[in-house]
Formats: sequence, C-alpha cells, structure tokens
Amino acid sequence: MIPAQNLTRLFQIVVVSLGLSAIMAACSNKNDDPGRSGTVVATGSAEIGGPFSLVNQDGLPVTQDDIQGKPQLIYFGFAYCPDVCPLALQQMGAALDAVDPSSEFFQPIFISVDPERDTPDMLKLYVSNNGFPKNLMGLTGSAEQVEAAKSVYKIYSQKIPDPDGGEDYTVDHLSLIYLMDKKGKFVDVFTHASTTEDITRRLKAFKKRND
Ligand code: NI
Repeated sequence: MIPAQNLTRLFQIVVVSLGLSAIMAACSNKNDDPGRSGTVVATGSAEIGGPFSLVNQDGLPVTQDDIQGKPQLIYFGFAYCPDVCPLALQQMGAALDAVDPSSEFFQPIFISVDPERDTPDMLKLYVSNNGFPKNLMGLTGSAEQVEAAKSVYKIYSQKIPDPDGGEDYTVDHLSLIYLMDKKGKFVDVFTHASTTEDITRRLKAFKKRND
C-alpha cells in the first residue's frame, strides 16, 4: 500500500502534469478562460474527501457516513451536460461491468454541480441512463450543500450564462473520477485522459488488493 500522503502528492502531480486544460471539462466549449486554472492548483495539495450533507435521487438525506463501507467512485457533473459527463459515466459503467459485474464491490456516485436544475427527480431519471453504472447513486442538495461538497472534494465548477442573454446556461466543471476506499480515503483519480481500459485495469488491481 502507498501511504496516504504519497497519494495526495500523486494527485498533485496528476493535476499539475496534466495541466488544467486537460482535466477541465468545458461542457459548453464556449468558454476557455485559462485564468480560472489557478484556483484548483492552489487547492490540489489538500486532502480529498470529507464530510458533506446532500440528498439522493429519492429525496433522502445522505452524508459522508452513509456512503462508507464500500469503495466509492465519485464524479461531479450535471444532468444537462451534453457530452463530458455522459462520456465519463459511460466509461465508469463499462469499467464496472468488467470489474464488478454484480455491482457489489464499488459504490458509484454522481454529485450534481447544478442543484438548481438537478432535483432528486431529475437525478432519478439521469442515473438510470443506459450505459451508466447500474447502481449509480445521484446526489444533489441546496446550493450551499453542493458548494460545501465541492469544496470537500476540491472540485471546481462555474456557471456559464448563455452568451445570447437567454435563460439557458451551462456549467464548466472539473471532470474527475475519484476512487475512494471504503472508509472514504482518497486512493486514485481518473481524468478524461484516462481510457476505459486504464480505469478497468486500475480498478481491478485495487479490488484485488482489497478483496
Ligand atoms: Ni459535464
């Protein structure tokens, strides 16, 4: 096993070496302001994970304690995201089908960065998408609850208003899949540069070490 500090260091290296452009999912493709990058690099050294309070797709409260017991795969995104989020969740689904076909070992979790539109009902539909992990849990909450969860997991996102002045908006967000152990400690991170094969291989190795 690699000590936790080394893993946190590893995360820093991943973030710094890939560069923010590589892991920043511009769901809009309209906004590519490099000035925002500094935020994440500055916080990348801190611990990933910690207490949060959200609600699931059935409207029931879920805290950090409720998701312990199984290793978790955690992804932050939003249901209206046209491509980046669905792609990451499909990769997660394909990797889990290969590594954990009975959906017993890992708990995949989707946390909304768009609580305004991602109601529990919306997430209930979303998490049942074909190709997404079968037992995907969807979490949302008040704007404050979501901000707190983002902060705990060092996730950056920003609402991008419609450039034409309409009510529609998109949300730029970091596209990262975190692997946390069954106690909620950070183990690994996958970016959208990770292939499904890569994710599968690393999950398989983790499962073997922890079975
Ligand atoms: Ni997205």
